[in-house]
Amino acid sequence: MTSKSARAKPSAAQPSERAEVDTVAFDVVEGIAWVRFNRPEKRNCMSPKLNRQMMRVLDELEFRDDVQVLVLTGEGAAWSAGMDLKEYFRETEAGGLGAVRQAQREAYGWWRRLRWYQKPTIAMVNGWCFGGGYGPLFACDLAFAADDAQFGLSEINWGILPGGGATKVARELMPFRRAMYHALMGENIDGRTAVEWGLVNEAHPGERLRARVEEVAKVLSQKNPVALKAAKDAMRRVGEMTYDNAEDYLVRAQEAANSFDDHGRKEGIKQFIDDKTYKPGLGAYDKKRT
Ligand code: COA
Repeated sequence: MTSKSARAKPSAAQPSERAEVDTVAFDVVEGIAWVRFNRPEKRNCMSPKLNRQMMRVLDELEFRDDVQVLVLTGEGAAWSAGMDLKEYFRETEAGGLGAVRQAQREAYGWWRRLRWYQKPTIAMVNGWCFGGGYGPLFACDLAFAADDAQFGLSEINWGILPGGGATKVARELMPFRRAMYHALMGENIDGRTAVEWGLVNEAHPGERLRARVEEVAKVLSQKNPVALKAAKDAMRRVGEMTYDNAEDYLVRAQEAANSFDDHGRKEGIKQFIDDKTYKPGLGAYDKKRT
């Protein structure tokens, strides 16, 4: 088992003044990067410091050979309580429009980076997930929640619209009536309801969540990585295309993928048709034999 940890957790004598570098933690274990929002004392709300550090961590992990899948989760009771009302809103607003735009760029920047990440990504929602948290939630390719995790567009409760993409995320993932109810009522839904409403793939009892996510990550890590990147990008892109445009895009996306890895798919065909060592309908070809 290989393990490489980010900095150890600080002693937290003054937890609210956590150093920027300590606002995100990660471990890499057997091909899975477990990245954690690391401000549990602030329910992992996203401050400018955390947003900057998260971008650094994503940078560091994206092209590492020992990382096949990235999981984003939270330390403590929260996944993320959304934007930091004090440090992200009040304090940056005090700095004027330039400071506000800078803080927005830093937050939206890492969410966008995650949406188009090289490796497959999984949100493991262990607890509270509010407002701005929907940005990284949507950015992850798959999402798994604890049964008792709580999801909410709480913005309406403190007097703003669900911004930072949160309205768009609700509209993308939920049926219209549910999205509208969610945005206007400011009521929370639990993990199981989040499955029903389309926000996450599955919900599990908290003690089983990590094992299920690990199982999924292991399956992903056995697939052809070029095909995974092409497939995840295509799934996001085709959402706003006509059928004809999507058809054309998919032909070209596969041809572009072939220029990165033309051998993989040929090996996939060979192991099925010639070697008869696996069936694509039942699992992935053995990429170690290529
Ligand atoms: N922004 C700034 N600070 C936040 C925060 C946020 N989004 N969420 C939590 N915190 C802070 C609290 O102010 C508190 O700080 P303090 O210890 O200095 O007083 C600390 O984190 C712990 O929060 P607390 O409210 O005591 O925890 P809780 O477990 O009782 O409640 C929540 C958890 C998530 C329900 C509650 O913190 C909350 O409603 N947070 C705001 C959610 C929200 O609307 N987010 C904005 C979306 S854009």
